[in-house]
Amino acid sequence: MTTAERSQHPTVGAPVVRADSLDKVTGSARYAYEYPVPDVAYVWPVGATIARGRVRKVDPSAALAVPGVLAVLDQDNTPRLRPGARSAFVSLDDLQVLQSPEVAYRGQIVAAVVALSLEAAREAAAVVRVTYERQPHDVVLRADHEAIRQPETMGVGMPAAVAFGDVDQAFAGAPVRVEATYTTPAAHASPLEPHATIASWDGDRLTLHNSDQAPYLSAQAIATLFGLEESAVEVVSEYVGGGFGSKAMPRVPTVLAALAARAVGRPVKIALTRRQMVSLVPHRSPTIQRLRLGADREGRLVALDHDAVQQCSTLLEYTEETVAPTPTLYAVPHLRATARVAALDVPPPNWFRAPGYTPGMFALESAMDELACALGIDPIELRIRNQPKRDGAHERAACLREGAARFGWDRRDPSPGTRWEGRWLVGTGVAVSYHPYAAMRTHARARVEPDGTYRVTVGAADIGTGARTVLHQVAADALGTPLDRVRLDIGRASLGFAAAAGGSMGTASWSRAVYKACRSLAAELFAHGGTVPDSGLEVLADTAGDLGEHTAGHTHGAQFAQVRVDTDTGEIVLDRLLGVFAAGRILNPRTARSQFLGAMTMGVSMALLESGELAPDFGDFAEQDLAAYHFAASADIRDLEAVWLDEPGAPSGPTDVRGIGELGIVGTAAAIANAFHHATGVRVRDLPLRVERSR
Ligand code: MOS
Repeated sequence: MTTAERSQHPTVGAPVVRADSLDKVTGSARYAYEYPVPDVAYVWPVGATIARGRVRKVDPSAALAVPGVLAVLDQDNTPRLRPGARSAFVSLDDLQVLQSPEVAYRGQIVAAVVALSLEAAREAAAVVRVTYERQPHDVVLRADHEAIRQPETMGVGMPAAVAFGDVDQAFAGAPVRVEATYTTPAAHASPLEPHATIASWDGDRLTLHNSDQAPYLSAQAIATLFGLEESAVEVVSEYVGGGFGSKAMPRVPTVLAALAARAVGRPVKIALTRRQMVSLVPHRSPTIQRLRLGADREGRLVALDHDAVQQCSTLLEYTEETVAPTPTLYAVPHLRATARVAALDVPPPNWFRAPGYTPGMFALESAMDELACALGIDPIELRIRNQPKRDGAHERAACLREGAARFGWDRRDPSPGTRWEGRWLVGTGVAVSYHPYAAMRTHARARVEPDGTYRVTVGAADIGTGARTVLHQVAADALGTPLDRVRLDIGRASLGFAAAAGGSMGTASWSRAVYKACRSLAAELFAHGGTVPDSGLEVLADTAGDLGEHTAGHTHGAQFAQVRVDTDTGEIVLDRLLGVFAAGRILNPRTARSQFLGAMTMGVSMALLESGELAPDFGDFAEQDLAAYHFAASADIRDLEAVWLDEPGAPSGPTDVRGIGELGIVGTAAAIANAFHHATGVRVRDLPLRVERSR
C-alpha cells in the first residue's frame, strides 16, 4: 500500500470494535482456569482463623481420609521458596506461602489440600485441623496509632515526605484557612474473574496459566521466588477478567498453585472464591488524611499541608502514595506532604485503582472546595488561580472550562442547601482528575510471511481495557495494511519484556514497541524491494533506548457531578456525572470511552458505596462477600458522560500516547462529595457518603 492509500484507511483514532468481542461473548476466549490440562489436580487453601500468632499443629488425618485427596500441605512439607526474594522493584515477602508457622493475618494460608476433584479438595480442606498459639491482634487504624511511622518511600520508590518553605508559619499567617480530616475506607478489588491459576511443571520449567496484568513481570517474580532462571517460567494470560491492580503482581494463590503442583508432581489449578479473595487478594488501605490549606484573600494558596496515615501488613512494607499528587497539583510556596504507615495484623494492602491518587485527591479536592466556600470564590476559578506552570496544568484548566460550559456551571447558584425539588435537595460539585503515565521498556516482534500476512507479538495483557484492539490498530497502521491482514498475539511472558497492564503504563509502553517493530519491518520489506523471502521477514524491537522525552508525564481532567439527597430518608442519588479529560492521543474512542466510564463508575462506588471494614475482635474484614460489600450497579448510574479534548499537536506515530487507565477514577469521589455539600450545606468528610456522617 502506498502512503496515499494508507492514509485513507487509518484505524488509529477510529472507533474500531473490540478484536475479541465475539470470542468473549461466545465463550471461546479462554481464561486462566479454562485451559484443558491432562491429569490436573485441584488445590483448596485453608485460611488462618486467628489474626496473629503461630500455627502449633496441622492435623491432616481427617482430610487425608477423604477419597481423592493427594496431599495436605503445611509449613513442614511444602517445597521451599527463596527467603527474602525481591522482584526488580518490589519485595515479595507477602508471597512466602506456607514457609513458616507465623500467622500475620486472618485468612492467611496455613495449609492446603490437593485432590483429584474440586469437591474433594474443598471437603477435605474443611476438616484439616489447625491448632494455634494465639496472640492479641490489632487491625484497626487510628490517627494516633502508636505503630505509625514515617517511611522513606511510598508507592514504588517515591519519597514519602516532601517539604519546601515553612508550612507551619505560612499557615498560621494565612488570612483564610481550612483545616480538616478526611477518611476513606479499605476497598476490595473483586474483579469479575477471580484470581485463578493452573500451574504445570516440566522438570525445572514452570508454566502458569494465570489471571495476570503483567505476564512478563510476574514470570520474573515467580522465577526469583522459586530460584529459577527467568526463561524457565512461562506465564500465559491471554484473557483477563479485570484486575484493578490486584493482578499486577503474582499473588498468593499463584504461588500456592506452583508449590502444590511441585509437591504432588502433577498440574494443579486454583480459582479463589469471592470469600477467599477478601483476605488473599490485596485491598486498598484505609486512609486518615489531615489537610491544612492557607490562602490569601484573593484565593492564592500560601500553605498546603497534607498528611496521610494508612496501614500495611506486618509481612510486607507498603505505603500507598496517597500524597503523590499534592506537591505538583497546585502552585504553593510552602508545602508539606507526608504519607505515614502503621503495620497492623491485616492482610497486605497493595496497588488498587490509581493507588494513592484516588484517596489522596478525594481529600485534597474536597479541601479545595472547602477553601472555595470559605473564600466565596467559585471552585473552578479557585483552581485556575492556583494552576502551576508545569506538568501541562493548562490542560487541566482547559478541561475545567470545557466541562463548565457543557455542564451549565454558569447557571449554578453557589449558596449551598437552597435548591429544593420536592423533598429532595439538589447540588452540583466539581473536582479535577490528575494522574501520571509513563512508557516502560517493552519488546515487540513483527513478522511478514510470503503470502503478505503479518504477525505481531507483544507481552501485553488486556484486562478488559481494549489493549488488544488498540495495539492491533497501531500495528496495522504502522505496517500500512488493513486490520485483517495482521494477527496480534499478546498475553505471554515468553513474548519478551513488557510493561504491566497497570499504572497507566500499559498502552503507552506496548504501543511504542509495536509501532517500532512494525515500522522497522516495513522498512526492511522496502529494502527487499517489497518481496518477502521464502523464510519470511522478522523484526524484534526493544524500546529500552528510546524512553527519554515524551515518555512520562501527566494526564488531566475535570469531573462535574449533580447529586440529590432525599431529606426524609437520606438517600443520595447521583443524577449526572461528566468527565472531561486531556490524555494525549486517544487510539480508539470506543474503548477509551468505556474505560473512562468504567473508571468513573468505580469513583461513584467509592463515593457512595464501597466500604471495607476491619472488625476489631474478629480480626478480619466484616464483609466477606459481595452481598455485604457493595459497588455501583447499572441502576446507580444515570447520566454518565466522558469526553476528551482534542489531542494537542499533530502526533506522528504513537509518541503522544499516554495512559488513561486510572485517570477517570481520580477526583470522582470529591466531585460527588462536593455536590453533596452544595446540595445539603452539610460537609461529609468520610467515605462512603452518609448523611449521618457529618461532623
Ligand atoms: Mo492499576 S492499580 O495500575 O493495576
